[in-house]
Amino acid sequence: MSRRAGAKVIRFEFAMPHRARAIITKAEITNLYRRRAKNYDLAAKLYNLVGFRIDSYRELAIDSLHLKLGDTVVDIGCGTGANFSRLRERVGQDGKIIGVDSTDAMLTKVRQRVAQRRWRNVELVQRDAAAYQFPGKVDGVISTFAIIYVAEFDDVIRRGSRALNGGGRLVVLDFKLPNRWISRLAPLAVVDTLPWGLSKELASRHPWESIAKYMKPMPMRERYGGFVFIAVGEQEENA
Ligand SMILES: C[S@@+](CC[C@H](N)C(=O)[O-])C[C@H]1O[C@@H](n2cnc3c(N)ncnc32)[C@H](O)[C@@H]1O
Repeated sequence: MSRRAGAKVIRFEFAMPHRARAIITKAEITNLYRRRAKNYDLAAKLYNLVGFRIDSYRELAIDSLHLKLGDTVVDIGCGTGANFSRLRERVGQDGKIIGVDSTDAMLTKVRQRVAQRRWRNVELVQRDAAAYQFPGKVDGVISTFAIIYVAEFDDVIRRGSRALNGGGRLVVLDFKLPNRWISRLAPLAVVDTLPWGLSKELASRHPWESIAKYMKPMPMRERYGGFVFIAVGEQEENA
């Protein structure tokens, strides 16, 4: 099925092999994002039509990192680099952004973005987050709409927290199931996000508990009726 959006045609594929299963494999995630890469940025913006304020969620998550000029930040599951402009505003040209993603086609898009803007301080790594070795010390780690895909998210957060300098922050922006009556609408929300390979099972992962296990947690914020969370952990000053 195709829908016209301006001159562009966005293809939503409703017959996907992983549909029948709630947790999709890493290979299926990669294949899904290979297909999604071309139209990812536009499709993400279309979620505004259902009140999903993705840019303001990103802004809040990135503000929560408390980055300074010259800092180094790692973006886990960076996709097409949708966070990079904002991150670069915070770290400046002397800081560094390291983007990690497992899908080649998403990294191709981010490479185009980096080349167009002539950013010299971006390093891109094609790797499963579960296998990624964080560099010595960094000032921030962020993951937006990506970590719940990673079965080993607890270990990624543990290693990410260890890589942080004292006072550094790790921020996760992702989907969750709401706690309140609205959770009865969860199947609707999940259907809404199905083109992204999400499911109730993936949204039942709780990265904020890992943050609280390995770092000092900040109060968690929720958006979109509790379907979206922003969880923040801070590394001890003397780490
Ligand atoms: C919904 S997109 C989010 C992209 C970007 N962070 C954003 O906010 O727009 C999810 C991304 O996570 C990546 N991803 C999924 N599983 C991953 C894994 N195990 N390791 C690294 N990246 C992964 C996908 O390739 C995809 O680019």
